[in-house]
Amino acid sequence: MTSIIEKRLSLHQRLAEQEEENRALKSQNTQLQALATLGSATCMIAHEINNLLTPLTTYAALAVQNPNDLELAKKVLDKTVRNCQRASKIMQSMLAVANGQNHQKQDACVRSLVEEAFTCLCRDFAKDGITVQTNVPEDLRVLCVPVQIEQVLMNLILNARDAMLPGGGILNVTAAADDEHIRIVVSDTGRGIEPEHLANVFRPFFTTKTGKDRPAGSNSGSGVGLAFCRRIVDAHGGEIGVTSKPGKGSTFTIQLPLKPPHERP
Ligand SMILES: Nc1ncnc2c1ncn2[C@@H]1O[C@H](COP(=O)(O)OP(=O)(O)OP(=O)(O)O)[C@@H](O)[C@H]1O
Ligand SMILES: [Mg+2]
Repeated sequence: MTSIIEKRLSLHQRLAEQEEENRALKSQNTQLQALATLGSATCMIAHEINNLLTPLTTYAALAVQNPNDLELAKKVLDKTVRNCQRASKIMQSMLAVANGQNHQKQDACVRSLVEEAFTCLCRDFAKDGITVQTNVPEDLRVLCVPVQIEQVLMNLILNARDAMLPGGGILNVTAAADDEHIRIVVSDTGRGIEPEHLANVFRPFFTTKTGKDRPAGSNSGSGVGLAFCRRIVDAHGGEIGVTSKPGKGSTFTIQLPLKPPHERP
């Protein structure tokens, strides 16, 4: 009899201990998740700010070399103000994405999103032998967080450029809509993606732009650009995909819903 009571008491005690341990593990898990969120937000912000600062540095250096060109100096200052304002918007919006919050979406003109992405890059593509072709209907609109979709486009355009260095090629950006989606397509005639890499390109930290594998003339990569693009597109309820032929080029397609989820059939 005593032994049964003792056994029950000991079981109760073990249960209480395990419940306490469970609570401690849950709290540790929450703290670790918060740290992971902070890490991924920091990485995304650093990556995007770098995308904005790199072209500005080159552009400003050009103005320093040509002190008498006041028009150039004015252009550099305009771009600096613009990209700095953008950097601040990006920080707010990236923190929200990393925290899993939905930023306020706006009805945006797709052509303006594409134009803004090109403007922020401050690059003369022709100097790299790259012909830019865009075909985006003026009246095409989409519900989105504009600064985020512009950053996605910037990343795709930068990758396309890297893929076409040093030989040059054609960068094509088009957009079209059906009843439910808008589709933005960014394609290039660059080196393409090897079939064994195709499934990896959206994985965080996957990059071929390092060491001896780095394509001549291209920027070195951290491999977070496309992972970031996928995260943003997912947060918009959309999809991003790629097709590619090695040696011929790559095509990235972003599909975004035209209407918010509660208004879809
Ligand atoms: N347009 C493209 N043509 C060929 N390869 C591409 C293209 N876009 C992406 N890739 C491949 O996918 C990889 C991952 O791209 P991602 O943008 O995530 O990283 P990254 O460009 O290497 O570095 P970063 O973090 O600076 O963007 C690239 O390293 C490259 O191998
Ligand atoms: Mg990239």
